[in-house]
Amino acid sequence: MPDGRGGQNEGGYGADLRVTKLTVDEVVGVVTNGRQSKGMPSFKGIIDDEKIGLVANYVKTVIKLKE
Ligand code: HEM
Repeated sequence: MPDGRGGQNEGGYGADLRVTKLTVDEVVGVVTNGRQSKGMPSFKGIIDDEKIGLVANYVKTVIKLKE
């Protein structure tokens, strides 16, 4: 979802990225490779590496719930 909550997919709901404990580098890894077993697709070759980095930073700054 635009605010970082997971949307519905065939297997259930995607992760709530507002509260992810992953680091920026780990978010890059998940977006690049997906979580195929959970229904998340790989974005490798769909979004270039630079933009995946920008998305990961966005998740960890703008999307992240502030304490
Ligand atoms: C069709 C679109 C997508 C689907 C169906 C989907 C689905 C999912 C699901 C089910 C999980 C949980 C995996 C698990 O429990 O291990 C997940 C995790 C994750 N997704 Fe997606 N996702 C999608 C798109 C995206 C996009 C566009 C991003 C980019 C920000 C993203 C970033 C992440 C991250 C970072 C995690 C790991 C969260 C954590 O472990 O804390 N996903 N996704």
